[in-house]
Amino acid sequence: MSDLSSLVQALPKAELHLHVEGGSMYPDLALELAERNGMTLPFHDADSAKDYYAFTSLDQFISILRTTVATLNTAVDYHDAIVRIGKQQAGANVSYQELFFTPGLRPSVPLEAIVEGLASGREEARSQYGVETRFIADIDRTLPTADGVAMVEAVHAVRDQAAIIGIGLDCQENGFPPSRHAPAFERAAELGFHRTAHAGEDGPPSYVWEALKLCQVERIDHGVRSIEDPELVRYLAQKQVPLTVCPISNVLLCVFPDMASHSVKQLMDAGCVVTFNSDDPPMFDCDIRDEFRDVSDTFQLTAEEVIRVARAGWESSFLEPEEKARYLTAFDLVAKS
Ligand code: ADE
Ligand code: ZN
Repeated sequence: MSDLSSLVQALPKAELHLHVEGGSMYPDLALELAERNGMTLPFHDADSAKDYYAFTSLDQFISILRTTVATLNTAVDYHDAIVRIGKQQAGANVSYQELFFTPGLRPSVPLEAIVEGLASGREEARSQYGVETRFIADIDRTLPTADGVAMVEAVHAVRDQAAIIGIGLDCQENGFPPSRHAPAFERAAELGFHRTAHAGEDGPPSYVWEALKLCQVERIDHGVRSIEDPELVRYLAQKQVPLTVCPISNVLLCVFPDMASHSVKQLMDAGCVVTFNSDDPPMFDCDIRDEFRDVSDTFQLTAEEVIRVARAGWESSFLEPEEKARYLTAFDLVAKS
């Protein structure tokens, strides 16, 4: 395994599923933001944060997330969040990331302030840490249909300021099927946005079908419950729809009782395009290297499988073809060495 760890570290990685809000809530930064904004959090150091970051389900996780991310209030707060994520990603040798942000999680913060912070944070993450970032604006799926459409329009007006290349869908899943936001995705397609959606995380396979057929998404975030529907697995494999899987998140949110029960290896073996991602690293005490390590340890992945998954991150990205080809050349140089 130590050989695989060095391989994972050495490979330049693309990460496609990491949320700005949960992904920046490192206890020290969350406490600094809370103090800056005159708030108190239900923890006071890294140890007590560990007790607070203990999850029983996706729904309970999102309610903790909504409390914690109330610390993000200004452009500077968002800037600091992105720079911190960039620093962590550089340590894991992630050189390109597509970050989700969810305006619906912070309805009292003007979108202009969020986007200003994303834009300046992105510049600093690149100049300080060499990490390139694009953004995907996620619809909080618990909001009404009209709010989803309004978010797409609002994001369209500012998309060029912060390299916002796509529209996604997140937050509590069960009870909130993707069809609810089909009009927003239709508008996103008209406006030339890439499209992806959290589906089949703790929701049923029918939600994955809806995301594919009614929202015309290009990728599925998680998609791990697709395994319950063999026809869906065949479809995903045949169409090579990328799945941005977050194995540690799925275990900690009790989607699977343990890693050995996770569907990720079955999906890989069925020919699905699988990528590994860390979702909300500080809240799950992980980074993308831990995802590779835990899945590799549990399922005895070979070096070839590790390389295939890491390469799929680049292939499944929303990079323009020439940029993608450039990054893939750099990746292949390391993978073959
Ligand atoms: N927001 C942050 N992490 C999420 C997850 N795992 N599922 C849905 N929404 C999220
Ligand atoms: Zn997610």
